[in-house]
Amino acid sequence: MKKNPLSNTSNKLQWFADARFGLFIHWGPYSVAGRGEWVMNRERMSLTSYQQECVEPWRAENYDPERWVALAKKTGMKYLVLTTRHHDGFCLWDTQTTTWNAKNMGPKKDLVRPFVDAVRNAGLGVGLYYSGADWSHLDYPGPFERDWPADWPDAKARDRFMTFCMIQMEELLTHYGKIDLIWFDGCIPKPFAGELLNRRIYELQPDILINNRNGEPCDFQVCEKRIQPCKGPWEACFQTSESWSWMRGQIRGKHPGDLLRSLLTCAKDGGNFLLNVGPQADGAITEQEEVVLAKIGEWMRHHGESVYGSERSPFSWNTQYLLTIRQPYIYLHLLRPIGPDLRVTDIANRVVEATWLHDGSPVDYLQQDGAITFRNLPEEFPITLGLVIALRIEGVPRPVVEYTRPEGAFWL
Ligand code: GLC
Repeated sequence: MKKNPLSNTSNKLQWFADARFGLFIHWGPYSVAGRGEWVMNRERMSLTSYQQECVEPWRAENYDPERWVALAKKTGMKYLVLTTRHHDGFCLWDTQTTTWNAKNMGPKKDLVRPFVDAVRNAGLGVGLYYSGADWSHLDYPGPFERDWPADWPDAKARDRFMTFCMIQMEELLTHYGKIDLIWFDGCIPKPFAGELLNRRIYELQPDILINNRNGEPCDFQVCEKRIQPCKGPWEACFQTSESWSWMRGQIRGKHPGDLLRSLLTCAKDGGNFLLNVGPQADGAITEQEEVVLAKIGEWMRHHGESVYGSERSPFSWNTQYLLTIRQPYIYLHLLRPIGPDLRVTDIANRVVEATWLHDGSPVDYLQQDGAITFRNLPEEFPITLGLVIALRIEGVPRPVVEYTRPEGAFWL
């Protein structure tokens, strides 16, 4: 990855590594239909019918970003990313570039400003999602192409589109104070001058982080609905329910234990976990999603220390527990009671102390002959999603057997 030429990349990424856990929010006129954020494309809706069915009836009457922020905080999340423009091209802020925006239509207010203010006032990271695709723009080719748009009709159309995006980005980065992160989404025909746009972003906000979906230079890689660790900084995004934006008839969220496992799997490999919610058109996050987040939040309140600022672990994935690291600690995660004894043979370091992370009480253990044996582990856990043993170790974490991840191994 080419680095941001204008700032000290390693320092500016520190908050991101400390955070590890963020809230993704998909919300726009498509939330009115409740058939997913691709509804316009999937149903080949003309702009006029999308305007009639989704934009005009959108009131956002219960929009209160402070509640989103409070929920994110309660869940232990440290940054939020909001869809300021999804593929429908509808801008949630007061833009001068098009009338296709929330100040002019539907809610009749700038929805980005209160979001940025609420997030910043709470001391959390402000992230803006911006789709490079725009089905509403005349120069954007093939809005109904599935799954990737056609080529640019000509270079002039591409340049007009590029200028349009550039001005929108300048608005977002000059009207709302400090923005911490820009989260680009894809579906832009090549060649697109993504580099030019990113360089302008760094000029306007040198400390900002940019994901890799608009090309280089950028700061971190993203993977979607799967965990794919990479060498530099990275983030995986997942859904709490079955879709990104609110879907009618959706009756349950994912299991919080599964999502927690994903969060820890990211933290173990030095990656972030961006968990999505899709508020209803009025702005309220559904109860089903709140319930899932509350369970994860309960776990995080006791165990956040094993997640925030985690370092890349040298230990294998092939364990009955998950090991995360923040020196001088190794955190051993028990996501269910696994019986009274546990024999751990991965850790070469001497353990100085072993305590339960949730209450600091000592854990009974014996380290000898290359194994650490934990004894008298509880049969029932006081915290539903699991417990964590904090191991204070001597030296830099070292595995007994080098962790190998052969290219192309069938289980990866
Ligand atoms: C995909 C989808 C989009 C969603 C995004 C989140 O690119 O097109 O709807 O916003 O993933 O990562």
